[in-house]
Amino acid sequence: MEEIQKTRELLLEKLETLEEKRLILRAPELRALYGKIKDQPEDQRSAYGQAINQLKQDLENIVSDIGQTTIDNRHPIDVTAPFDVNAALPELLPTENGTIHPITAEIEKITDIFYRMGFEVSESREIDDEYHMFTSLNFPEGHPARDDYDTFMTEEGFVAPAHTSTMQNRIIKARKEKLENGESIAVLAVDRVFRNEDLDARHEHTFHQAEGIYVGKNITVGNLVATLKTFLTTYFGKEVQTKITPFYFPFTEPSFEFSLSCPFCEDGEECRVCSSERWIELLGCGMIHPNVLKEAGIDPEKYTGFAWGCGIERLVMMRYNIEDIRHFNSGKLAFLRQFK
Ligand code: DAH
Repeated sequence: MEEIQKTRELLLEKLETLEEKRLILRAPELRALYGKIKDQPEDQRSAYGQAINQLKQDLENIVSDIGQTTIDNRHPIDVTAPFDVNAALPELLPTENGTIHPITAEIEKITDIFYRMGFEVSESREIDDEYHMFTSLNFPEGHPARDDYDTFMTEEGFVAPAHTSTMQNRIIKARKEKLENGESIAVLAVDRVFRNEDLDARHEHTFHQAEGIYVGKNITVGNLVATLKTFLTTYFGKEVQTKITPFYFPFTEPSFEFSLSCPFCEDGEECRVCSSERWIELLGCGMIHPNVLKEAGIDPEKYTGFAWGCGIERLVMMRYNIEDIRHFNSGKLAFLRQFK
């Protein structure tokens, strides 16, 4: 037993000098001890064997503890990491739990319908300037109508667009040649927009709009109504009645508010969605103002056009009878999973 104790001390000393610590478990001194079991008196052999095993076990423990320390040293803890880099890998949720966000899915359906109707589909932008937000859209400087589009600004004076109409000037200007070649301009621009809003079930500070623009020869309000009606009938999958009422936007003349017959109304029954008014205001639209066409380099004597801007969340809420716009950004899985 004394021998084992001596070997223990020797091996511990040796361990200090070894670079590859695990080699201590294969040290000849340790192996030699095993060879000596048979030399022990019979009644002590078992205890002797156990003592060697204990020594080996202790060495194993020391080696694996050192190994742990070395790994820790190689990966210092990064307190800014999203999870402990030294911990076991987190278990990821299985992919079948993920879904496309309902707004993304509906944008695909909406753009698909317009694409099939001959519209090009483009994106808007999420940062813009005063010229595109107001001036190019016939908002005179200091005009009170600018206040209806109260949004966020950067310190450098850039604007987080309050509507996708901010794209009208660019879209028309870039396609001037089409008109000269006898074609029409037909574009749908979709993106997020921002407003300084008090939040409630119907208002969000960030939401999506789809801006439709059509310019060509002899275009009238009749074309505008027919286009929107065709879209809505396809999107809701059933015939809808539509109504236009006069409104004011600086960038259209005449301007309208476009309503559709409430798709949730059952014959004569009380309806929570439209408060039994049977109509729901859906979007703003009108014939593009001559000044907007002129600003984009188009002769309003030769060409006319229509435009509209539609809130996507509102449309989706109507389609699926969703009562609160805030669900969309809430990250509530129970809500999102219904759209799988
Ligand atoms: N930009 C308007 C809004 O967000 C909606 C709108 C109205 C867009 C008339 C248009 C239009 O293109 O012609 O309130």
